[in-house]
Amino acid sequence: MSIEGAVILNYGYAQGYKPLMEYLLRYMKNKGVNLEGKEILITNGFTEGLDIILSALIKKNGRVICENPTHHAAIKIFKMHGFDITGIEMEQDGINLMELERALSERPFDLTYLVPSYHNPTGIVMSPHKRMEVIRLLNKYQVPLIEDGFNEELRYSGSHIAPLFACNGNGNSVIYLGSFSKILFPGLRVGWVLAEKEFIYYLESVKRARSIHTSTLDQSLLYQYLHNGNFEKYLKKAKSEYKRKCELVIRCCRAFIPLKRLSGDGGLHVFIEFDDNFDTNVLLESCRQEGVIFTPGNIFFTNNKGHHTMRLGFSRVTDEDIIKGIQIIGDTAKRMMREVQL
Ligand SMILES: Cc1ncc(COP(=O)(O)O)c(C=O)c1O
Repeated sequence: MSIEGAVILNYGYAQGYKPLMEYLLRYMKNKGVNLEGKEILITNGFTEGLDIILSALIKKNGRVICENPTHHAAIKIFKMHGFDITGIEMEQDGINLMELERALSERPFDLTYLVPSYHNPTGIVMSPHKRMEVIRLLNKYQVPLIEDGFNEELRYSGSHIAPLFACNGNGNSVIYLGSFSKILFPGLRVGWVLAEKEFIYYLESVKRARSIHTSTLDQSLLYQYLHNGNFEKYLKKAKSEYKRKCELVIRCCRAFIPLKRLSGDGGLHVFIEFDDNFDTNVLLESCRQEGVIFTPGNIFFTNNKGHHTMRLGFSRVTDEDIIKGIQIIGDTAKRMMREVQL
C-alpha cells in the first residue's frame, strides 16, 4: 500500500490493473492459447463477464445453445437477457455431438456457452476428440462460442487438456471467460475475458459504463498473490487434497447410495443420477432434518427436468462428515425407494 497506494486507491483503467492483465495473458499463453490479435478485460468474476458479453452482443435470433444441465447462474443470466435456451444432453465424455449438430442445423443461434472442463454440475471433462469436433461444428454453422474455463486447473489425473480456445487455431470467434473463484478466492470477485481485440475494446466501454472498473485493490491483491509464486504452490497442495477427498466421496457414494449413474472427473463436486421417478428435492427435505444438505440437480437443467439428479459438493467438508453425510443420504434414499414399492 505504501508503494502503490496512489494507484490502487485512485480510479483505474476500465480494462484492468496492468500487472494482473499481463500475468493472466502469460497464464493463458501457457495453456496453449495463441494471443495474436487478442486482448483481455478484467471483470467482477465470471458472472459479470458473461453479463457484459451478453450486453455487448447484437441479438439477432435470441437463441443460445449450451450443455444440459449447466451452470445455473449462466441460465439465469441468459434468461435475464431474454435468450431462449436450447440445452444439449451430456455424455460421459462431454456434449452429445449428434444432438448438437441436429440443433445447429435446425435453427440459427446467436451463441454457444460451454464448460468443457469439470463441467458444472456433472464434473465431466470433454474429450480432446469432442473438443475438435465441437469447434468444427461451430465453425461450420458459424456460431460464436463462450468458453467457461473456471475450473480448468482442478485436474487430478491424466494430462492437461487444451481449452477450446486453443483448439480453434487463432481462437477467433471464441470468447474465453476465466475465474479463480473456485480454486482461490470467490470473495475477491476477479475474473477475465479473453477475446479478439476489437471485441474487448467494445466490452471495455460497456464495463466502464456499468461499474467503471473492478476494484484495483482486489486486483492488486490477487496479482501479488500470483506474482509471489503462491498459486503454483497452493495448487499443488489443493489438488492432492481435493483428489483424495474426491476419491473418498466416490467410494462412499458407490458403497452407500442406490444410484444409477455417477460422474465427476475432478473439480469439487460429483453428480448423481437416480432412477427417473426419484425426486431429490424430497430426499433433500428428509436429509436436511438430519443435518445433511446437497444441491438438487433440477436447478441446473434448461428444460425443467433433472428432478432425479443431485450435485454433491465436498470442498469444505471433513472426511468424517463426508462418510457420515453420504451414509445418511444413502439410507434415506433407500428408505424412500422401499416406501414407494410398498
Ligand atoms: C460453471 C461456473 N463458471 C464460473 C463460476 C465462477 O463464477 P464467479 O467467477 O462469478 O464466482 C462458477 C462458480 O460456481 C461456475 O460454477
